[in-house]
Amino acid sequence: MVKPPAGAETGGGQQIYFVKDVAVMRAALVNEFGGPSAIEYGTAPRPVPGPGEVLIRVAGTSFNPSDIGLRSGLLREVLPVEPPFVIGADVSGTVETVGEGATGFVPGDRVIGRLDRGGAAAEYAVAAAADLAAAPVSVPLAEAAAIPVAGLTAWQALFEHGRVEAGMRVLVNGAGGGVGMFAVQLARHAGARVVATASPRSARAVRNYGADEIVDYTRAPLSEAGPVDLVLHLVPGDASGPLELVRPGGRLVSITGPVAVPPGSPVETAHFVARNDAAQLAELVALVDAGAVRVEAAVRPLAEAAAVHREAEAGRVRGKVVLAP
Ligand SMILES: NC(=O)c1ccc[n+]([C@@H]2O[C@H](COP(=O)([O-])OP(=O)(O)OC[C@H]3O[C@@H](n4cnc5c(N)ncnc54)[C@H](OP(=O)(O)O)[C@@H]3O)[C@@H](O)[C@H]2O)c1
Repeated sequence: MVKPPAGAETGGGQQIYFVKDVAVMRAALVNEFGGPSAIEYGTAPRPVPGPGEVLIRVAGTSFNPSDIGLRSGLLREVLPVEPPFVIGADVSGTVETVGEGATGFVPGDRVIGRLDRGGAAAEYAVAAAADLAAAPVSVPLAEAAAIPVAGLTAWQALFEHGRVEAGMRVLVNGAGGGVGMFAVQLARHAGARVVATASPRSARAVRNYGADEIVDYTRAPLSEAGPVDLVLHLVPGDASGPLELVRPGGRLVSITGPVAVPPGSPVETAHFVARNDAAQLAELVALVDAGAVRVEAAVRPLAEAAAVHREAEAGRVRGKVVLAP
């Protein structure tokens, strides 16, 4: 069981960490940085919403590769969270209580959002009301937890950094993953022609998301995809292969690392880390409810969080996995 943070057992700490007659909750905790077994499915203090925040009864949190960095400590410089902490950046659930000054939501509202410092892999989580959007009505609430991190990343890659336009030929490199699921559908919705890389295990799903052409990256050279106007590079590692496919004046947007471009290259490149944007999240939700973007996720019990991390590190997780408390 996690130790309550310093001060929790004394004086005002009681007010901070215990609500009504329910003091604690089940949660997937990291008590010290480490491998998948550093995740303990245990008990944590139930959080209390501060000013501008709401308390959410969690329906689901989805696994993201960055959870591995958070758990292992590799992302410590970028996301300064010290153990003990609860993992989980994506949240879907129902507003339970509303903190002072939090506007836009009332108890009972179904919401989704992205928690930059985690905390969603639990029965309850707090979030800034300003970071949330109403959940889609057409998707089971737990599965809607697949949307925020992956959906916002795909949105910002395509519309902000990629400046996608109808008629462009877009390569989604790494379309089989969570970000790819949204990127393929959003690019198609924008009127682009989509060529996607996917291995056989993901080919059918990627085709169903609307990819016009699929290159099996385990068998065929990437050159079969080109030339393209825009590349979304969603896989870790060298981007020089996809860079060669971009037409002069085109762009390559990487979400996995900076891209080295030869001097004088006629190709524009960008690398970015996605940010919270509740308005974009609401637009994504509207597309989901309009049937333009499909959300697919395997839902598993939160108690399997460590197992999901183990499977992900072994490359055995495909698409989005939602953990439900
Ligand atoms: N910058 C940001 O803000 C940001 C945000 C979110 C994610 N990310 C990063 O972006 C990456 C993708 O995230 P994700 O959530 O989509 O991951 P994910 O769901 O784990 O998907 C990864 C997918 O990559 C595919 N893949 C692996 N090697 C490949 C290759 N050589 N060529 C083509 N596809 C390959 C696999 O597809 P198959 O099933 O087809 O084999 C796999 O399903 C991760 O590294 C993540 O950390 C960055």
